[in-house]
Amino acid sequence: MEPTIKRLTEEEFNRFAKLIYDESGIFLKDTKITLLSNRLRKRLQALDIAEFSDYYNYLQSLPSKEKALEYEKMLDVVSTNETFFFRNERHFDALSQVCLQEIAKVKTDRTLRIWSSACSTGEEPYTIAICVKESMHLFSGWDIEILATDIAPSVIQFANIAEYSGRRIEKVPTEILKKYFTQKKGDPSVYVVNDDIKKMVTFYYHNFFKSVFPKDIDIIFCRNVMIYFDKRHQVELVAKFYQCILDHGYLFIGHSETLHSISEDFSYRKILEAPVYVPNPRR
Ligand SMILES: C[S@@+](CC[C@H](N)C(=O)[O-])C[C@H]1O[C@@H](n2cnc3c(N)ncnc32)[C@H](O)[C@@H]1O
Repeated sequence: MEPTIKRLTEEEFNRFAKLIYDESGIFLKDTKITLLSNRLRKRLQALDIAEFSDYYNYLQSLPSKEKALEYEKMLDVVSTNETFFFRNERHFDALSQVCLQEIAKVKTDRTLRIWSSACSTGEEPYTIAICVKESMHLFSGWDIEILATDIAPSVIQFANIAEYSGRRIEKVPTEILKKYFTQKKGDPSVYVVNDDIKKMVTFYYHNFFKSVFPKDIDIIFCRNVMIYFDKRHQVELVAKFYQCILDHGYLFIGHSETLHSISEDFSYRKILEAPVYVPNPRR
């Protein structure tokens, strides 16, 4: 059936693409016109607006507080949130078998701070929490903080509910599923993350290019999001990570991402079979 709200014109696409880029760093090539039309259409429908140009004018007309809220909702529908538990599991082998052990050895203040930035619907930070829980013998008496942030409010809401099924949990080993999840009453295909894991993770809204960064982080996960940014934003983001990571820290980026020609603040290190970055000594 023909959608009632048509596709963006080229001019409309350019105006929205600029807005999205300025607000979030997400860079949309002009081949993304259908994708952006389909995603933005959800906001137009929610607001009962018939034309993209009217939505653009509506956005511009809002007072600053309301505008900021509508920008959040717009970025919420525009962002790509694909994720699943134990995605790129070699990272979690490196985390469990090397990084956590090294940190437990070198840190004297008995705090562990891990940041899952761009956490989407929560599978990544809960996987991290499970790995930390499995290594708790190293951290007895430590304060454990797992921060999990994203620009899209609806994924944070989803993550807080912590109910998963299908492809999202396909890679969870059976014994881990039994140990840290409970099947939902009335729908056994849905697995709910147990409270002991849930309470290890704090979710909140964070935009890499507008929000203040957390400090003194031992391990940063920033996977599968830099691909959406252009080089200028990638450089800016990694420079900010360098400011907030501790000297002994580790930075995990996505499988198809690299810091080559993006940053000289980090060095590549292969840990077990996983690509990981470590901060270079401060000048
Ligand atoms: C593909 S998901 C990656 C999820 C997870 N890190 C993984 O690798 O499975 C990318 C996430 O980045 C978020 N994102 C995009 N731009 C962002 C920005 N400027 N600041 C913070 N998060 C952003 C999106 O909302 C989305 O949830």
